[in-house]
Amino acid sequence: MSQANRDELKIQHQRGFLVGVIEQDEKDLYEDPLGEIQGLAETAGVEIVGRMTQRRQTLDTATAIGSGKLAELKELLDSTDAEVVIFDNNLSPSQGRNLEKELNRVIVDRSEVILDIFASRARTYEAKLQVELAQLLYLRPRLKRMWTHLERIEGGIGAGRGPGEKQLEVDRRLIDKRIDELKRKLSEVEKHRQRMVAQRRDHKTVSLVGYTNAGKSTLMNALTGADVYAADQLFATLDTRTRKWSITGWGDVLLSDTVGFVRKLPHHLVASFKSTLEEARHADLLLHVVDASHPEAELQIDTVHQVLDEIGVDHSNMLLVLNKCDACADRSIVDVLRVRHEHAVVVSAASGEGLDRLALAVAKRLGDGFAHVRLTGNVANGRIGAFLAEHAQIQSQKYTDTEVIFECLLPQALLRRVHELGASIEPIDAPESVPVVAE
Ligand code: GTP
Repeated sequence: MSQANRDELKIQHQRGFLVGVIEQDEKDLYEDPLGEIQGLAETAGVEIVGRMTQRRQTLDTATAIGSGKLAELKELLDSTDAEVVIFDNNLSPSQGRNLEKELNRVIVDRSEVILDIFASRARTYEAKLQVELAQLLYLRPRLKRMWTHLERIEGGIGAGRGPGEKQLEVDRRLIDKRIDELKRKLSEVEKHRQRMVAQRRDHKTVSLVGYTNAGKSTLMNALTGADVYAADQLFATLDTRTRKWSITGWGDVLLSDTVGFVRKLPHHLVASFKSTLEEARHADLLLHVVDASHPEAELQIDTVHQVLDEIGVDHSNMLLVLNKCDACADRSIVDVLRVRHEHAVVVSAASGEGLDRLALAVAKRLGDGFAHVRLTGNVANGRIGAFLAEHAQIQSQKYTDTEVIFECLLPQALLRRVHELGASIEPIDAPESVPVVAE
């Protein structure tokens, strides 16, 4: 494939007009149906100059939108000087071709925008291979349209002569060859990754998953002190990173950051990113990071579940992390999410609020069951009681003049923590099940 063709995918620095067909099953789901594609397009470097939506049962097979809307759109494009039209839907090759002819503008669909962002963000060897493969798979059935584009570009390679079917054939063959090569390289990388994941079996592993921009990288940095790239750009993370996270009073776990999800993720991309999510597939626990300050937080939670299902990652052992609580002007929004998601932990990766609570909740989930213990502490030490109220099943609580004595079931993983809070620990009926607590 020629470089010129690849460059056709770049939409940076262009004046873009957004169009969204809202299908029946999506009706009224989103407060701002084009809000997300606008964020994606702006991330890709487009200047948005106008927006239009149409509600339809399904996409028009020829032009996605109906003929009346198409005429309206033509006028709007002229009056706004838009160079590129961005659809929030995935278009078939023929829809793209027809729209391009009708509107005389570059047409870009949702997949293309996402692929473009992925391409510009991919940093590791593996991520670069994956994105290139996804781009080529997307491009192959659309080559003809790309060539039509090129013919129109003044001074472009096609100018005056037209590429013709022969050139198309050459390009297709080149693409197929490159696709085979990429698949082979990826399968080598994948084998290496599987070996790495297997080597980590002796550690507990925790994977961060979540919608793009939820704050996974920021949380990873806050928990591990790692310098993982975090930016207010969608999909800042395109490859998994794994770091050690030392949980006070529990020990070390391996924490992995993964690529952010988004609704209607292009299928080629899902397929090629399966291996990147290998860490998540084998994790002992998934932390699902949510931007609690986002008006569509609940829908983003659903999307993450759907994508995990789609790529075959079991999410039965998942802890919901309601992030960005500092940015929630109205705290009751967080409360509503907490009621709906009973065990969710509220944090702010940016300010550090709630990170202790998160560490404890993770320790509890990773713990090897409960210990039945008697804990004795100084009567003036309120921290033990407060800690137990949150994390233990308290069976009895007695006071002497100087001491408070609790009998409770406490996750094994938290014994060390209550010891650090000043409690002495006595096993009740299964002494061998209580590990020695380090001094
Ligand atoms: P992808 O790589 O797109 O999947 O994003 P991510 O989930 O890794 O998000 P990232 O950590 O890059 O954060 C996205 C943006 O949210 C950045 O601008 C962060 O500074 C911001 N952010 C993250 N956590 C918080 C938080 O607790 N509070 C606030 N106010 N902003 C946050």
